[in-house]
Amino acid sequence: MSYGHFDDDAREYVITDPETPRPWINYIGRKDYVGMISNTGGGYSFYQDPRYRRLIRYRYNNAPRNVGGRGLYVRDAESGEYWSPTWQPARVDLDDYECRHGLGYTTISGTKNSVATDVTYFVPPGEDLEAWRVTVTNEGSEARSLQLFSLVEFCLWDAMDDISNYQRNYNTGEVEIEGSTIYQKTEYRERREHFAYFACSADIDGFDTQRDAFLGNYEGFDQPQVLEDGAATDSVAHGWAPIGSHQIDLDLEPGESEEIVFLLGFHENPEDEKWAEPGVVNKEYVEPTIEEYCDPESLDAAFDELDEFWTDQLSALQVETPDPETDRMVNTWNAYQNTVTMNLARSASMYETGLTRGIGFRDSLQDQLAVLHQFPDRARQRILNLAKIQLKDGGAYHQYTPLTGEGNAEIGGGFNDDPMWLVMSTAAYVKETGDTSILDEEAVFENEEGTEAPLAEHLQRAVEYVWERRGPHDLPLIGHADWNDCLNLNCFSDNPDESFQTAEHDIDEERAESVFIAGQFVYALEELAALAEQTDVLPESSDEYQQYADEMTAAVQDAGWDGSWFRRAYDHFSDPIGSSENDEGQIFVESNGMCGMAEIGFNDGKAQDAMDSVRERLATEHGIVLHQPAYTEYDERYGEITSYPPGYKENGSVFCHTNPWIMITEAKLGNGERAFDYYKRICPAAREEISETHTTEPYVYAQTIAGPDAPTTGEAKNSWLTGTAAWNYVAITQYILGVRPDHDGLVVDPSIPADWDGFEMEREFRDATYEISVENPDGVESGVASVEVDGEEIDGQTVPAFEDGETHDVRVVMG
Ligand code: BGC
Ligand code: NOJ
Repeated sequence: MSYGHFDDDAREYVITDPETPRPWINYIGRKDYVGMISNTGGGYSFYQDPRYRRLIRYRYNNAPRNVGGRGLYVRDAESGEYWSPTWQPARVDLDDYECRHGLGYTTISGTKNSVATDVTYFVPPGEDLEAWRVTVTNEGSEARSLQLFSLVEFCLWDAMDDISNYQRNYNTGEVEIEGSTIYQKTEYRERREHFAYFACSADIDGFDTQRDAFLGNYEGFDQPQVLEDGAATDSVAHGWAPIGSHQIDLDLEPGESEEIVFLLGFHENPEDEKWAEPGVVNKEYVEPTIEEYCDPESLDAAFDELDEFWTDQLSALQVETPDPETDRMVNTWNAYQNTVTMNLARSASMYETGLTRGIGFRDSLQDQLAVLHQFPDRARQRILNLAKIQLKDGGAYHQYTPLTGEGNAEIGGGFNDDPMWLVMSTAAYVKETGDTSILDEEAVFENEEGTEAPLAEHLQRAVEYVWERRGPHDLPLIGHADWNDCLNLNCFSDNPDESFQTAEHDIDEERAESVFIAGQFVYALEELAALAEQTDVLPESSDEYQQYADEMTAAVQDAGWDGSWFRRAYDHFSDPIGSSENDEGQIFVESNGMCGMAEIGFNDGKAQDAMDSVRERLATEHGIVLHQPAYTEYDERYGEITSYPPGYKENGSVFCHTNPWIMITEAKLGNGERAFDYYKRICPAAREEISETHTTEPYVYAQTIAGPDAPTTGEAKNSWLTGTAAWNYVAITQYILGVRPDHDGLVVDPSIPADWDGFEMEREFRDATYEISVENPDGVESGVASVEVDGEEIDGQTVPAFEDGETHDVRVVMG
């Protein structure tokens, strides 16, 4: 069962039933002002930081789900009947409902009793505001007396206090009302630096700014007192819960429409600014903006600019394959999700509160992998910013706060995979752009002035960090955890049960090893070896980097191999994890994927054996699970991984982020059928038909899908902000379709289903456009018989980097 459909030409997902199993959301705004909007107008927005600069209140774990956010009510002044054209908050059945989530905008239309209301929400590019363009149309044959009420519940304080210290907030709310604009100046008294406003293009017939006056003392958002009465109370909030609500009376003749614009905006005063009169909002800064965007013509222009922005962004890579679901993901939705994850990492969604996590070092570095062709400059900057939170010893702060750029000292470092992502993403950046100058750019360590060193030196310390921390099997020490945050093999010292401490065994020593990091190290060092061929700024030579990779490969081949697959780790006692010797957790996806991507065991059949084992033991109809068998009981030797019930999250769900590592390995091995089969199993568009099982949006990836050990197998959780987006995009575009940047050009090496007769890709690469057509006359899964560039056959599969601003034809024949 589905709740809507894709409109590919419009690049929209169209939801036709408001009661989706979870809020199905979209993001509006992509720089400073960011909002989430659900298919019923819910969600929240913030400026730069979802904790300290939040505009709209959001109630976590609320029931019913996702109430609040952006409220609109239409009221029939004669009958007193009212409804929300976005279905929520009133939740009155509509005669017609449709939500269209597009790129950076959402339109919701709801019709009731012949009154049609359409509202489009978007952030004009470059502005710190969201516009709601509302059109109300009388589609009936009688004149109608209507009223429109807006509603926003503000949250302009530390949003954490909203949960933990709200007695304070109950006393800080202050507003000013001028004309049709409600200024929200909570906290302005003390900090004088920012305020919010909720403006309206119409002359208003009333307003409310105190929540209880609007709702009544015991009424909910579905039955506000003001709507019951049909009259705003003109309440002025002092403390308690400030809101913004406008009342606009509309008399509409049959067929008549009226457009009303609401603007919810944020303003941060210049550093040295003082208020003109104590405590009075500096309205002069925003009045011109309000005037500008209350004008539909400016909004039309801004909307066109948004549309052009996306057309331009997406044109960097477009495909036409025999599979429409692949096309809609690659051409639109996956690329779109990638830009959202690049901006927000894992901070703010319907499942991430925006209060705690900030931005993750490993998360953000992986997010860059999928946007290099779209936003090379921003990726470059982000990589350099992340380098600043690298620690002097080569490790990294695991998280940082976007507002300050500071590493989070409380969490600190000790996730020993972190530094390798810096190497991998830098190498990917250089392959995409050819810009080796990034390696000369200076960045500090640990946010500490005076510690500047070129990025090349940062990469070197990353290498040394892992190399110097190897355990009894010459494999890298895992530290607190590697990619799998919950595989905590050194966690005894956090645990009150110290029975593992014996005369022979010191529980405080870090001893556990990770085969995953070993694979990652080999991958990263091969990349460094290739990079060292391009530039001499790296401290060691290509041969020397290759030497490290070879030595680590030998350790994996030896202690990392279990007979039919790669082991996952060694625990504190040097017992293997991910081995047939274990009762549970015998085989894991992560180490097999990462060692496979690093091509360990490509020469002796091990990689293929590992992939066969993954297929046999881990692949389910809903994707590849993290490990099998899942852990049935908590085990303090392994930590948090065993704290989840079997089949959820790190304990054996389909953790979608890891599936592309298997797709990539299969593709590299030439198994196009398998690679694409795995791609489709977790592809959101391909799961649209089972939306009542999958539950989250069919247009974006979710972090996990419950595994077969869970009673809710097939159910996705935590959609939108996940490294799944970037890696799946890399897997499908660079390894299955097989067009990937390399230092000296664009490699074409498809691994596709044998029954595809070919596909086309148009891709920008280093200031040239490549129109690539792949033909598969013999129905093979992989292998290239010939490549012609602009009509001339070339040797090999690497199309040169022309860098000439021109379009080049590339014709690839498989065979
Ligand atoms: C979750 C992980 C997550 C980590 C982040 C853990 O509790 O299970 O999925 O990566 O927290 O802090
Ligand atoms: C989500 C975290 O954001 C990511 O960093 C981690 O690798 C995965 N969970 C797996 O634990």
